[in-house]
Amino acid sequence: MSETLEIGVNEGERQRNRLNALGVVNDLHPRLDELRDQGDVHAQSFSALMGQPEPPSLTMNSGSRYAVLGFESGDAAFRQHDVFSSSGYQATTSVWGPNILAMDSPEHRRYRSLAQPAFASRTMEDWEKRWLSPILDELIARIRSERSVELYMAYCARFPAHTIASSFGIDGSDVEEVHDMLLRMLDQTDPEGAGRAAVRIKEILGGVIEQRRAEPRDDIISLLAASELVEEDGSRHTLSDPEILGFAGLMLTAGSGTTYRTLGVLLLALLQRSALWDRLVEDRSLVPQVVEEAIRWDPPLTMFSRLTTRDTELAGVEIPGGSVVDVVVTAANHDPRRWDDPHAFDPFRPLIPHLSFASGPHFCIGNQLARMELRVALERLLDAFPGMRLDPDAPEPYITGLLFRMPTALPVLLDG
Ligand code: HEM
Repeated sequence: MSETLEIGVNEGERQRNRLNALGVVNDLHPRLDELRDQGDVHAQSFSALMGQPEPPSLTMNSGSRYAVLGFESGDAAFRQHDVFSSSGYQATTSVWGPNILAMDSPEHRRYRSLAQPAFASRTMEDWEKRWLSPILDELIARIRSERSVELYMAYCARFPAHTIASSFGIDGSDVEEVHDMLLRMLDQTDPEGAGRAAVRIKEILGGVIEQRRAEPRDDIISLLAASELVEEDGSRHTLSDPEILGFAGLMLTAGSGTTYRTLGVLLLALLQRSALWDRLVEDRSLVPQVVEEAIRWDPPLTMFSRLTTRDTELAGVEIPGGSVVDVVVTAANHDPRRWDDPHAFDPFRPLIPHLSFASGPHFCIGNQLARMELRVALERLLDAFPGMRLDPDAPEPYITGLLFRMPTALPVLLDG
């Protein structure tokens, strides 16, 4: 491998990623099926149900715990936001400041509408041309002359954070630094290092906010800096620096680890089915279908939690107020009452909504961006390396993780 490929491709980074999977379970579904057969709602956390240790508190960690495994019940919990509140995500505000993930309506609606224009479908072409294509071109050029590459770190992991950081107007070496600091921030084994990484990202973002206030450009930070929030009483104010930082920090974290893990899952699924890869080389019209199936089949984050605001009932189970409810989207996406043969990776199945992007008011604001990034990143590989195959001499990769799902690696031969 060449020197440049060593950027980000080291054992430390791999190790961090493995640890971030927060629990090691390869096939989640035998146990989830068994539990779902007994009922949609269980009075234990997702980790406890899976026989795994409780992870350090990422979000909510108080009161009694419940896990929801069925599609209808999970969808109902996401939509009943007055009962299943997102306020348990408040811990994330200590890192980034106020952010929409942790807000409930009506505050949530007011703030979310400010960021919505940046993610509208008409802006996707712009995202692709200005912020995604340049980094994909660079990554492909870096690996083009290689015979074998570990694609997960050399390609999948390198572009989503880069794309979002570029959309903020961050450039040059700062983009690489933001990428590395983001990985460090997610490292649950080194809280102090994670804290220092967050401080450094905030410094970089703070500098960009200051510059864009003085001299706006055509980028997302300038858009946020010019946005006016309408308060309930009708008064207006422009977003403060901590409010812009809250949006930007959430976008960086929510939009990077998710997309790259899903690309890893998608590529592994295709490379393990080489006839499907070859079919895609011939017929690009199938790309959106394989992307959607990968997102349903093995979502990068397996569950999202809510905090009940009062006593309630879900699928016949009484849930007291103040409980943490884990909506296990990966279980919901494999509910046999909604999908035939749900565990099969089948891009030709009928397209119906799944819960990988949640539902209701917090439905992922970046869902179109994620789908576009996955589609274009796959198309670039099909164009550049139509004969790509898994390296038969490397240890066989597999998908693993309890809270985060990802392939162990993607060792490939670029021209078969
Ligand atoms: C495959 C990729 C992705 C998946 C599976 C995903 C999944 C999700 C889910 C499930 C939520 C709701 C979380 C909850 O309410 O508890 C969410 C929210 C969010 N996502 Fe994504 N996401 C992806 C990519 C992205 C991208 C590319 C961005 C853009 C930068 C993004 C930005 C956000 C933001 C800002 C929120 C908060 C929305 C709100 O609270 O109203 N996500 N995402």
